[in-house]
Amino acid sequence: MQTNLRGRDFIGDLDFSREEVETVLDVAWDLKRKRALGESHAYLRDKTLAMLFFFTSTRTRGSFEAGMAQLGGHAAFIDSQTTQISHGDTAKEIGQILGRYFDGLAIRQCDWQFGNQYINEVARHSRAPVLNMQCDVYHPFQCLADLMTIQEKFGRDLRRRKVVVSWAYAASYSKPISVPQSLILQMTRFGCDVVLAHPPEFQLMPEIVDQARANARRYHAGFDITDNMDEAFKDADVVYPKSWGPLVVAPGKDEGKALIEKYRSWITDQRRIDLTEDDAVYMHCLPADRGLEVADAVIDGPKSVVYDEAENRLHAQKAVMALTMS
Ligand code: CP
Repeated sequence: MQTNLRGRDFIGDLDFSREEVETVLDVAWDLKRKRALGESHAYLRDKTLAMLFFFTSTRTRGSFEAGMAQLGGHAAFIDSQTTQISHGDTAKEIGQILGRYFDGLAIRQCDWQFGNQYINEVARHSRAPVLNMQCDVYHPFQCLADLMTIQEKFGRDLRRRKVVVSWAYAASYSKPISVPQSLILQMTRFGCDVVLAHPPEFQLMPEIVDQARANARRYHAGFDITDNMDEAFKDADVVYPKSWGPLVVAPGKDEGKALIEKYRSWITDQRRIDLTEDDAVYMHCLPADRGLEVADAVIDGPKSVVYDEAENRLHAQKAVMALTMS
C-alpha cells in the first residue's frame, strides 16, 4: 500500500500510481462505511479548502463542500466571476495567495486548451495541494468515483471486464472531452478491456489515446477504437455513453454544432442496452440530456447505477482530501 500522498497535487489521472489509487479507494470505502454507521471521521479538523469554479457544477461543488464539512473542515465556494481574476489576478497570484490562506485549492477550469495549463500554473505557485475539479483534459475525481462504482458492482479484480466509453448525441452544448479521456487512462490501468466508440470527428487527444494504449499493454488489458456504437455495446459489462464536443478537430462553436447534428442516432436506448451482458451496468457522470443521449427507460432502468456513481464522488474525494491535506 502506497500511503505517502500528503501535500501532493492531483491534476491528471496518472499523477497517482495505480497502487496509490488503490490506497485512495481503500480509504474511500472506509469513509463510506464510517458515514453509513454515523462514525465521526474528522481527519481535517481546522483545515480549509478553496473551491474555485470557472464553470457551473452540481455534483462537484456539493460533494466537495459536504465532504470537507464531514471531515471536520470547511470549504469556501469561490466563483471566478466575483473575484478579481477578470481585473488581473493571475494564476501565479491565485496560487501564491490562496495557497497561503487555504490548506488545499480545488479548481474547475474547462476552457479548451487553457484549463489544464491554468491549474498547473496555479499549482506551481501554491504551497497547498491543488486538486483538479475538471479541466479541458481530465476529470480525475469523476473517474475515481467511476472506478469505485465499477468495483462495487464487479469486485476489485476488473481484469478482462469489457468497459465501453462511447460518444452520445446531446443538443445542450459542446461538452468537454475530459471524462472519456480520464476513463480510458484509468480503466486500462486496472486491466479492463476498454472500447472507445465515437464518430470519426469526435476523436480524443492523440497523446491521451497513446497513453491509454501504453497502459493497456503494460497491464495486459485491451484497448480498441470503433465508430460503431452497436458493435461496441455487444457483450459489454459496463457502458458509459456520454456526449462530448469535436474539440480536437473543430473547436469552433458553429462548426462543432454542425458535426454533432450529424449523429442524432447515437442514443442509448433499450435496444442498445439489450446488447450488453445481463449483469451489465449503465453509467453516466451527469448531467445527461435525457431523450437525446439516453432514453429515460435506460437511465431510470435496472442497469443504471448513475446515483451510486454520483454518491461515490463524495467518498472518493474525501479520501483524496484526507490523504493529501492532513
Ligand atoms: N459529473 C460532474 O462533474 O457533475 P457537475 O458538473 O454537476 O459537477
